[in-house]
Amino acid sequence: MFPTDRPRRLRVNPAMRRLVAETEVRPRHLVLPVFVAEGVDAPRPISSMPGVVQHTRDTVRKAAAEAAAAGVGGIMLFGVPSRRDATGSGAVDPEGILNVALRDVRGEVGDALPVMADTCLDEFTDHGHCGVLDARGEVDNDATLPIYAEMAVAQARAGAHVVAPSGMMDGQVGVIRAALDEAGFRDTAILAYSAKYASAFFGPFREAVDSQLRGDRRAYQQDPANAREAGREVALDLDEGADMVMVKPAMAYLDVLRRVADAADVPVAAYQVSGEYAMISAAAERGWIDRERTVLETLTGIRRAGADVVLTYWATEAAGWLDR
Ligand code: PBG
Repeated sequence: MFPTDRPRRLRVNPAMRRLVAETEVRPRHLVLPVFVAEGVDAPRPISSMPGVVQHTRDTVRKAAAEAAAAGVGGIMLFGVPSRRDATGSGAVDPEGILNVALRDVRGEVGDALPVMADTCLDEFTDHGHCGVLDARGEVDNDATLPIYAEMAVAQARAGAHVVAPSGMMDGQVGVIRAALDEAGFRDTAILAYSAKYASAFFGPFREAVDSQLRGDRRAYQQDPANAREAGREVALDLDEGADMVMVKPAMAYLDVLRRVADAADVPVAAYQVSGEYAMISAAAERGWIDRERTVLETLTGIRRAGADVVLTYWATEAAGWLDR
Protein backbone atom coordinates (compact mmCIF):
# COMPACT_ATOMS: atom_id res chain seq x y z
CA MET A 1 0.00 0.00 0.00
CA PHE A 2 1.91 3.03 -1.27
CA PRO A 3 1.99 5.88 -0.27
CA THR A 4 1.65 5.38 3.47
CA ASP A 5 2.65 8.96 4.32
CA ARG A 6 -0.09 11.31 3.17
CA PRO A 7 0.59 14.98 4.05
CA ARG A 8 -2.56 15.83 2.09
CA ARG A 9 -4.69 14.62 5.03
CA LEU A 10 -3.94 17.91 6.75
CA ARG A 11 -5.04 19.91 3.71
CA VAL A 12 -8.43 18.36 3.05
CA ASN A 13 -10.61 21.33 3.97
CA PRO A 14 -10.33 24.96 5.11
CA ALA A 15 -10.90 24.14 8.78
CA MET A 16 -8.11 21.55 8.78
CA ARG A 17 -5.76 23.91 6.99
CA ARG A 18 -6.59 26.63 9.48
CA LEU A 19 -5.83 24.30 12.36
CA VAL A 20 -2.30 23.54 11.16
CA ALA A 21 -1.27 26.91 9.65
CA GLU A 22 2.17 27.87 10.99
CA THR A 23 2.29 31.52 9.99
CA GLU A 24 -0.26 34.22 10.67
CA VAL A 25 -0.63 37.71 9.33
CA ARG A 26 -2.69 39.93 11.60
CA PRO A 27 -3.51 43.60 11.12
CA ARG A 28 -1.24 44.42 14.08
CA HIS A 29 1.77 43.06 12.18
CA LEU A 30 1.38 45.70 9.45
CA VAL A 31 2.71 49.25 9.36
CA LEU A 32 1.37 51.78 6.85
CA PRO A 33 3.93 54.11 5.22
CA VAL A 34 2.39 57.47 4.20
CA PHE A 35 3.60 60.53 2.31
CA VAL A 36 2.62 64.06 3.35
CA ALA A 37 3.24 66.94 0.96
CA GLU A 38 3.76 70.53 1.97
CA GLY A 39 1.41 73.23 0.72
CA VAL A 40 -1.00 71.06 -1.27
CA ASP A 41 -4.75 71.38 -0.88
CA ALA A 42 -5.75 68.03 -2.39
CA PRO A 43 -4.11 64.59 -2.28
CA ARG A 44 -1.85 64.01 -5.28
CA PRO A 45 -1.86 60.57 -6.91
CA ILE A 46 1.49 58.82 -7.43
CA SER A 47 1.23 57.33 -10.92
CA SER A 48 3.67 54.46 -10.34
CA MET A 49 1.86 53.48 -7.13
CA PRO A 50 -1.84 53.31 -8.03
CA GLY A 51 -3.95 53.90 -4.92
CA VAL A 52 -1.13 55.64 -3.00
CA VAL A 53 -1.10 59.44 -2.74
CA GLN A 54 0.89 62.35 -1.42
CA HIS A 55 -1.42 63.36 1.41
CA THR A 56 -2.38 66.80 2.57
CA ARG A 57 -2.11 67.57 6.30
CA ASP A 58 -5.81 66.92 6.51
CA THR A 59 -6.01 63.63 4.63
CA VAL A 60 -3.00 62.12 6.40
CA ARG A 61 -4.85 62.52 9.70
CA LYS A 62 -7.78 60.66 8.18
CA ALA A 63 -5.48 57.93 6.85
CA ALA A 64 -4.02 57.52 10.34
CA ALA A 65 -7.46 57.31 11.92
CA GLU A 66 -8.51 54.70 9.34
CA ALA A 67 -5.38 52.65 9.92
CA ALA A 68 -6.00 52.71 13.67
CA ALA A 69 -9.64 51.71 13.19
CA ALA A 70 -8.56 48.82 10.94
CA GLY A 71 -6.28 47.51 13.70
CA VAL A 72 -3.06 48.24 11.81
CA GLY A 73 0.09 48.05 13.96
CA GLY A 74 1.63 51.43 13.19
CA ILE A 75 2.11 54.28 10.72
CA MET A 76 5.37 55.57 9.19
CA LEU A 77 5.48 59.16 7.94
CA PHE A 78 7.54 60.59 5.07
CA GLY A 79 7.61 64.31 4.29
CA VAL A 80 7.56 65.88 0.83
CA PRO A 81 8.77 69.47 1.30
CA SER A 82 8.03 72.29 -1.14
CA ARG A 83 11.56 73.71 -0.81
CA ARG A 84 14.88 71.92 -0.50
CA ASP A 85 18.44 72.97 0.21
CA ALA A 86 21.95 71.50 0.43
CA THR A 87 21.69 70.50 4.10
CA GLY A 88 18.04 69.48 4.18
CA SER A 89 17.16 72.15 6.73
CA GLY A 90 13.44 71.41 6.43
CA ALA A 91 14.10 68.16 8.25
CA VAL A 92 15.13 69.80 11.51
CA ASP A 93 12.71 72.75 11.34
CA PRO A 94 9.80 72.24 13.77
CA GLU A 95 7.61 73.82 11.07
CA GLY A 96 8.96 71.51 8.35
CA ILE A 97 6.28 69.36 6.75
CA LEU A 98 7.29 66.07 8.36
CA ASN A 99 7.38 67.53 11.87
CA VAL A 100 4.10 69.36 11.37
CA ALA A 101 2.47 66.18 10.08
CA LEU A 102 3.84 64.18 13.02
CA ARG A 103 2.17 66.63 15.40
CA ASP A 104 -1.09 66.40 13.47
CA VAL A 105 -1.09 62.61 13.33
CA ARG A 106 -0.05 62.17 16.95
CA GLY A 107 -2.83 64.58 17.91
CA GLU A 108 -5.26 62.45 15.94
CA VAL A 109 -4.31 58.97 17.20
CA GLY A 110 -2.68 59.68 20.59
CA ASP A 111 -1.21 56.44 21.87
CA ALA A 112 -3.67 54.21 20.00
CA LEU A 113 -1.30 53.79 17.04
CA PRO A 114 2.52 53.92 17.19
CA VAL A 115 3.61 56.93 15.11
CA MET A 116 6.93 56.45 13.31
CA ALA A 117 9.09 58.94 11.42
CA ASP A 118 11.53 58.36 8.58
CA THR A 119 14.78 59.89 9.82
CA CYS A 120 16.68 60.63 6.62
CA LEU A 121 17.64 63.71 4.63
CA ASP A 122 16.97 62.56 1.06
CA GLU A 123 13.50 64.08 0.86
CA PHE A 124 14.84 67.40 2.15
CA THR A 125 18.09 67.91 0.21
CA ASP A 126 18.20 69.61 -3.18
CA HIS A 127 20.67 66.94 -4.40
CA GLY A 128 18.51 64.07 -3.13
CA HIS A 129 21.21 62.27 -1.17
CA CYS A 130 20.64 60.92 2.33
CA GLY A 131 23.37 63.10 3.81
CA VAL A 132 25.25 66.34 3.23
CA LEU A 133 27.98 66.44 0.58
CA ASP A 134 31.68 67.20 1.01
CA ALA A 135 33.75 69.39 -1.31
CA ARG A 136 34.11 66.52 -3.79
CA GLY A 137 30.36 65.94 -3.90
CA GLU A 138 30.53 62.70 -1.88
CA VAL A 139 28.14 62.01 1.00
CA ASP A 140 29.94 63.04 4.18
CA ASN A 141 29.10 60.46 6.83
CA ASP A 142 30.36 62.29 9.90
CA ALA A 143 29.03 65.71 8.92
CA THR A 144 25.59 64.12 8.46
CA LEU A 145 25.41 62.50 11.90
CA PRO A 146 24.70 65.65 13.96
CA ILE A 147 21.92 66.58 11.53
CA TYR A 148 20.30 63.15 11.98
CA ALA A 149 20.56 63.60 15.75
CA GLU A 150 18.85 66.99 15.56
CA MET A 151 16.24 65.63 13.16
CA ALA A 152 15.39 62.72 15.47
CA VAL A 153 14.98 65.05 18.44
CA ALA A 154 12.69 67.32 16.38
CA GLN A 155 10.63 64.27 15.42
CA ALA A 156 10.39 63.06 19.02
CA ARG A 157 9.38 66.56 20.08
CA ALA A 158 6.70 66.55 17.36
CA GLY A 159 5.25 63.36 18.82
CA ALA A 160 6.94 60.41 17.10
CA HIS A 161 6.89 57.28 19.25
CA VAL A 162 9.54 55.76 16.99
CA VAL A 163 12.26 57.31 14.84
CA ALA A 164 13.55 55.28 11.92
CA PRO A 165 17.01 56.20 10.63
CA SER A 166 17.14 55.01 7.03
CA GLY A 167 20.20 56.78 5.62
CA MET A 168 22.77 54.02 6.18
CA MET A 169 25.33 56.40 7.74
CA ASP A 170 27.78 54.59 10.02
CA GLY A 171 27.11 55.53 13.64
CA GLN A 172 23.64 56.96 13.02
CA VAL A 173 21.87 54.89 15.67
CA GLY A 174 24.41 55.77 18.36
CA VAL A 175 24.25 59.53 17.84
CA ILE A 176 20.47 59.48 17.67
CA ARG A 177 20.15 57.48 20.89
CA ALA A 178 22.51 59.84 22.71
CA ALA A 179 20.69 62.93 21.42
CA LEU A 180 17.26 61.57 22.32
CA ASP A 181 18.40 60.70 25.83
CA GLU A 182 20.09 64.05 26.27
CA ALA A 183 16.89 65.85 25.24
CA GLY A 184 14.81 63.78 27.66
CA PHE A 185 13.25 61.44 25.10
CA ARG A 186 14.34 58.22 26.76
CA ASP A 187 11.16 56.42 25.74
CA THR A 188 11.37 57.28 22.05
CA ALA A 189 12.29 54.03 20.30
CA ILE A 190 14.65 53.55 17.36
CA LEU A 191 13.71 51.32 14.45
CA ALA A 192 16.98 51.01 12.54
CA TYR A 193 16.97 50.35 8.83
CA SER A 194 19.97 48.13 9.45
CA ALA A 195 20.16 46.11 6.26
CA LYS A 196 19.10 48.44 3.49
CA TYR A 197 20.15 47.59 -0.03
CA ALA A 198 20.91 49.84 -3.00
CA SER A 199 17.81 48.59 -4.75
CA ALA A 200 16.03 49.22 -8.04
CA PHE A 201 12.83 48.42 -6.14
CA PHE A 202 12.91 51.93 -4.62
CA GLY A 203 12.15 53.37 -8.08
CA PRO A 204 8.53 54.48 -7.53
CA PHE A 205 9.46 56.00 -4.14
CA ARG A 206 11.45 58.62 -6.06
CA GLU A 207 8.21 59.82 -7.64
CA ALA A 208 6.40 59.52 -4.32
CA VAL A 209 8.72 62.04 -2.65
CA ASP A 210 9.60 64.11 -5.79
CA SER A 211 13.20 63.01 -5.29
CA GLN A 212 15.92 65.16 -6.84
CA LEU A 213 18.49 62.35 -6.85
CA ARG A 214 20.89 61.94 -9.73
CA GLY A 215 23.30 59.06 -9.51
CA ASP A 216 22.81 56.34 -6.94
CA ARG A 217 23.26 55.41 -3.28
CA ARG A 218 25.72 52.54 -3.72
CA ALA A 219 28.41 54.19 -1.61
CA TYR A 220 26.19 53.95 1.48
CA GLN A 221 23.42 51.38 0.89
CA GLN A 222 24.38 47.72 0.77
CA ASP A 223 25.38 45.72 -2.27
CA PRO A 224 22.60 43.22 -3.16
CA ALA A 225 25.32 40.58 -3.42
CA ASN A 226 26.00 40.64 0.33
CA ALA A 227 24.13 38.78 3.06
CA ARG A 228 26.84 38.32 5.69
CA GLU A 229 27.35 42.07 5.79
CA ALA A 230 23.74 42.47 6.93
CA GLY A 231 24.64 40.57 10.09
CA ARG A 232 27.40 43.06 10.79
CA GLU A 233 25.14 46.05 10.21
CA VAL A 234 22.52 44.60 12.56
CA ALA A 235 25.10 43.83 15.27
CA LEU A 236 26.45 47.39 15.11
CA ASP A 237 22.97 48.92 15.29
CA LEU A 238 22.02 46.76 18.27
CA ASP A 239 25.26 47.74 19.95
CA GLU A 240 24.43 51.40 19.36
CA GLY A 241 20.97 51.02 20.90
CA ALA A 242 18.50 50.01 18.18
CA ASP A 243 15.20 48.77 19.65
CA MET A 244 14.08 47.15 16.40
CA VAL A 245 15.90 46.41 13.16
CA MET A 246 14.74 46.32 9.57
CA VAL A 247 15.56 44.55 6.33
CA LYS A 248 14.67 46.36 3.13
CA PRO A 249 13.42 45.63 0.48
CA ALA A 250 11.56 42.47 1.50
CA MET A 251 10.80 40.03 -1.29
CA ALA A 252 14.22 39.88 -2.96
CA TYR A 253 15.92 39.65 0.47
CA LEU A 254 13.98 36.95 2.33
CA ASP A 255 17.19 35.02 3.00
CA VAL A 256 18.69 38.10 4.64
CA LEU A 257 15.51 38.52 6.66
CA ARG A 258 15.74 34.94 7.90
CA ARG A 259 19.39 35.40 8.90
CA VAL A 260 18.61 38.61 10.76
CA ALA A 261 15.57 37.11 12.49
CA ASP A 262 17.65 34.14 13.65
CA ALA A 263 20.43 36.36 15.02
CA ALA A 264 18.67 39.40 16.48
CA ASP A 265 17.07 39.40 19.93
CA VAL A 266 14.85 42.38 19.09
CA PRO A 267 11.74 42.61 16.89
CA VAL A 268 12.57 42.49 13.19
CA ALA A 269 10.75 44.51 10.54
CA ALA A 270 10.76 44.12 6.77
CA TYR A 271 9.76 46.78 4.25
CA GLN A 272 7.72 45.74 1.23
CA VAL A 273 8.87 48.72 -0.81
CA SER A 274 7.40 50.89 -3.55
CA GLY A 275 8.68 48.72 -6.42
CA GLU A 276 7.15 45.60 -4.87
CA TYR A 277 3.86 47.46 -4.60
CA ALA A 278 4.12 48.73 -8.19
CA MET A 279 5.00 45.31 -9.60
CA ILE A 280 2.02 43.55 -8.06
CA SER A 281 -0.33 46.45 -8.81
CA ALA A 282 0.68 46.51 -12.48
CA ALA A 283 0.29 42.76 -12.98
CA ALA A 284 -3.06 42.78 -11.17
CA GLU A 285 -4.30 45.73 -13.25
CA ARG A 286 -3.64 43.67 -16.36
CA GLY A 287 -5.55 40.78 -14.87
CA TRP A 288 -2.43 38.63 -14.84
CA ILE A 289 -2.52 37.87 -11.14
CA ASP A 290 -5.13 38.08 -8.40
CA ARG A 291 -4.28 41.16 -6.38
CA GLU A 292 -5.66 40.22 -2.97
CA ARG A 293 -4.32 36.67 -3.04
CA THR A 294 -0.91 37.81 -4.25
CA VAL A 295 -0.61 40.52 -1.61
CA LEU A 296 -1.60 38.17 1.20
CA GLU A 297 0.79 35.51 -0.10
CA THR A 298 3.69 37.97 -0.10
CA LEU A 299 2.84 39.20 3.40
CA THR A 300 2.67 35.60 4.60
CA GLY A 301 6.03 34.86 2.97
CA ILE A 302 7.66 37.88 4.58
CA ARG A 303 6.27 36.85 7.98
CA ARG A 304 7.34 33.24 7.41
CA ALA A 305 10.88 34.43 6.62
CA GLY A 306 11.03 35.99 10.07
CA ALA A 307 9.47 39.46 10.07
CA ASP A 308 7.59 40.41 13.21
CA VAL A 309 6.46 43.61 11.53
CA VAL A 310 5.86 44.31 7.82
CA LEU A 311 5.77 47.80 6.34
CA THR A 312 3.43 47.72 3.38
CA TYR A 313 1.45 50.28 1.41
CA TRP A 314 -1.43 47.79 1.55
CA ALA A 315 -1.54 47.80 5.38
CA THR A 316 -5.00 49.29 5.90
CA GLU A 317 -6.54 47.51 2.94
CA ALA A 318 -4.99 44.16 3.83
CA ALA A 319 -6.15 44.56 7.43
CA GLY A 320 -9.67 44.68 6.01
CA TRP A 321 -9.12 41.39 4.17
CA LEU A 322 -7.78 39.62 7.22
CA ASP A 323 -10.07 38.03 9.72
CA ARG A 324 -9.56 40.15 12.85
C1 PBG B 1 15.07 57.03 2.51
C2 PBG B 1 14.08 55.97 2.16
C3 PBG B 1 13.85 55.39 0.91
C4 PBG B 1 12.81 54.48 1.07
C5 PBG B 1 12.44 54.53 2.41
N1 PBG B 1 13.25 55.44 3.07
C6 PBG B 1 14.46 55.70 -0.42
C7 PBG B 1 15.86 55.32 -0.68
O1 PBG B 1 16.62 54.91 0.19
O2 PBG B 1 16.27 55.44 -1.85
C8 PBG B 1 12.21 53.63 0.02
C9 PBG B 1 10.82 53.13 0.31
C10 PBG B 1 10.14 52.51 -0.85
O3 PBG B 1 10.72 52.36 -1.94
O4 PBG B 1 8.96 52.17 -0.69
N2 PBG B 1 14.41 58.15 3.09
